[in-house]
Amino acid sequence: MPTTLVTGCNRGIGLQIVTQLHARGDDVIGVCRHASSELRLSGIRIIDGIDVSSGESVAKLKAQLGDEVIDVLINNAGILRRDAFGELDYDSMLEQYAVNALGPLRVTEALAGNLQDGSKVAIVSSRVGSIEDNGSGGNWGYRASKTAVNMIGTNLMHELRPRGIAVALLHPGLVATDMTGNTGISTAESARGLIARIDELTMENTGGFWHAEGYTLPW
Ligand SMILES: NC(=O)c1ccc[n+]([C@@H]2O[C@H](COP(=O)([O-])OP(=O)(O)OC[C@H]3O[C@@H](n4cnc5c(N)ncnc54)[C@H](OP(=O)(O)O)[C@@H]3O)[C@@H](O)[C@H]2O)c1
Repeated sequence: MPTTLVTGCNRGIGLQIVTQLHARGDDVIGVCRHASSELRLSGIRIIDGIDVSSGESVAKLKAQLGDEVIDVLINNAGILRRDAFGELDYDSMLEQYAVNALGPLRVTEALAGNLQDGSKVAIVSSRVGSIEDNGSGGNWGYRASKTAVNMIGTNLMHELRPRGIAVALLHPGLVATDMTGNTGISTAESARGLIARIDELTMENTGGFWHAEGYTLPW
């Protein structure tokens, strides 16, 4: 049974991912800042107190895991801060970069020694990080942070390929969570798609940017 570690799993899409993986028998490690009651009731192994934007915090995560092998690492934690041209908050933009772009890199780098030949790394990015797909503008800090994580994911693909570790960038769809004001498809449907994409990830298709529904997105 594979061991899968998921960040940002106390609510939203992450909570559904860990719930579905646990239900099918995977060994799941749920990583979060504060465990919710739903997460606690799930019976999943939890490592809490972990902020993916903090080096000290991620070092604590590594210390708790020791040399335990991680077969699948899902970098899901993320934030969206609404903004508008003319009143941009640059500190908020940097915060989104720290969580959405540097967070997955920080966690993957810290846990690189826990990954082995055949392990997989998934990053929950967003299609709004696609330059080609940007048909409306807006969401300055969020879009730029997701574009940055797409580059980081592509670099991770090159970095980890010699070790036989595949990397995927995934868009979950427009999903009804706190982030979207509960607009969109259910977290259950999104998580099903994301898990299917991660199951299909191999060294042959490493480095792709996919919609949870299975089609490739433009960069
Ligand atoms: N919902 C959508 O339509 C949509 C679309 C495209 C991409 N995404 C991406 O999907 C992922 C999950 O989003 P969601 O919709 O499930 O959002 P959500 O319901 O707002 O959940 C976000 C999760 O990320 C965690 N998180 C935020 N900042 C963190 C930090 N510094 N350290 C550790 N954990 C942190 C949150 O933990 P706390 O409870 O501690 O804040 C929470 O568990 C994100 O990467 C998001 O950008 C979502």
